Amino acid sequence: MKIKFASANPATGSLAVPVFENSTLSDAAKAVDKTAGGAIARAIKASRFSGKAGETLEIYAPSGMEAGRIVAFGIGAKAKLNGSVLERAGAALVKSLLTGGESDLAVVLTTVADAEGAARFGLGCRMAAYRFDGYRTTLDASKKPSLKTVTLVVDDEKAGKSAWKSWGAVADGVDLARDLVNEPPNVLTPPAYAKKVQGLEDTGLEIEVLGEKEIKKLGMAALLGVGQGSVLESQLVVMKWNGGKKGDAPLCFVGKGVCFDSGGISLKPGAGMDEMKGDMGGSAAVVGLMRALAGRKAKVNVVGIIGLVENMPDGNAQRPGDIVTSMSGQTIEILNTDAEGRLVLADALWYAQKEYDPKFIIDLATLTGAILIALGHEHAGIFSNDDAIADGLTKAGLASDEKVWRLPVGPEYDRQIDSPIADMKNIGEGRLAGSITAAQFLQRHVNGKPWCHIDIAGTGMWSGSKDPRLPTFGTGYGVRLLDRFVRDNYES
Ligand code: BES
Ligand code: MN
Ligand code: ZN
Repeated sequence: MKIKFASANPATGSLAVPVFENSTLSDAAKAVDKTAGGAIARAIKASRFSGKAGETLEIYAPSGMEAGRIVAFGIGAKAKLNGSVLERAGAALVKSLLTGGESDLAVVLTTVADAEGAARFGLGCRMAAYRFDGYRTTLDASKKPSLKTVTLVVDDEKAGKSAWKSWGAVADGVDLARDLVNEPPNVLTPPAYAKKVQGLEDTGLEIEVLGEKEIKKLGMAALLGVGQGSVLESQLVVMKWNGGKKGDAPLCFVGKGVCFDSGGISLKPGAGMDEMKGDMGGSAAVVGLMRALAGRKAKVNVVGIIGLVENMPDGNAQRPGDIVTSMSGQTIEILNTDAEGRLVLADALWYAQKEYDPKFIIDLATLTGAILIALGHEHAGIFSNDDAIADGLTKAGLASDEKVWRLPVGPEYDRQIDSPIADMKNIGEGRLAGSITAAQFLQRHVNGKPWCHIDIAGTGMWSGSKDPRLPTFGTGYGVRLLDRFVRDNYES
């Protein structure tokens, strides 16, 4: 589905008009209502539509107009209208029309949204139009999306198009992250994934792929230990976007890319194990972010690093009891092979600091089931040694509608991960503070750099969300958050 901009209502296709709460017609809705002989006001009166953000009401074949239908959509209170509301309204509107038979929709946003707001609306439209149907060969034609273009009618067409250059790039990044999470694990193997990322060189990113031989040379035994029970080769992929000043220290994003997490020898229970195809969601967010930054030519230097492995239980698999030496030189006693994400990240974090001396490092990972218990699907957990970054991410979360909630890290938790025979063990004691001890483990591989860990086990995967922006299992969480964070703080 394509987003277009125009400065006047097109003559054909369907027409959508915004309505404020308490069924207050916007100026655009009033004008269309007049042409339609009062059909909008009458239909609203005969329904329970009240103009709350997310509501829609379809009016068919209004007399005196070309439009096949008029759709009234709610945008809530005038005083509370912002980017998030517009994004949600756009998503609700597209969700209601996506497979309904119409191919062209125009949305009259004049007087309610500026160019930036309209582009945000467009992002919502794109998010709701996302599908993952590539593997369905027998899907009935009537169930396929019919909607092909959404034209946003704005006061300043040129400004709208220019704003969409940025927000369209974000939409592309979100789509890509979702695709990666939704892909089955027999298709998106670590080598196939690395190859796919290499294809992004077209967008202006510099891509480097390291295989097991090179990874071994770097001393990443913690990462390699996770992948050693798989027949598939582990990979480390580095993506660079050099949009900033030459010589400026880069921002660095690191992602957990466990393409399938069976748990290894500490095998997971069977029910729901299929969802562990999404255990590379952190890496997908990093790839999606890099794509977004390149797409909108962000004026900043950024390095994205993803560790790609498959956690499987074969005869060569890592055992509980094994001790490995991470790239940092610290030894780790493996007491549960299902606590593998932190092992991958430990080496990727160390590599990031050593190789790129970044301004800061933010890692994203579907790291712990415990974060779902604490925060559900609605907030990601953040853990940081730097208040400014944690605060910046919290603000970016509210602005982008990808929310985060800070949890503590600190030496109080060290005793849980101290090992009697190695420098540390890879799990804490019992079930207490599981997300925090995982973060504390990561912090032991942070060498003085400002750092933040984002646990997206809940937010990165969500089947059955009622939010029209989240139509599939893979949410693409993290792309909008981090794009906002970078845009608001590091681009001058
Ligand atoms: N990938 C999982 C975490 C996860 C669980 C993500 C559920 C999404 C949904 C991670 O590798 C894992 O298995 N963590 C264990 C850690 C435990 C063994 C200390 C967990 O959370 O149970
Ligand atoms: Mn695991
Ligand atoms: Zn995992």
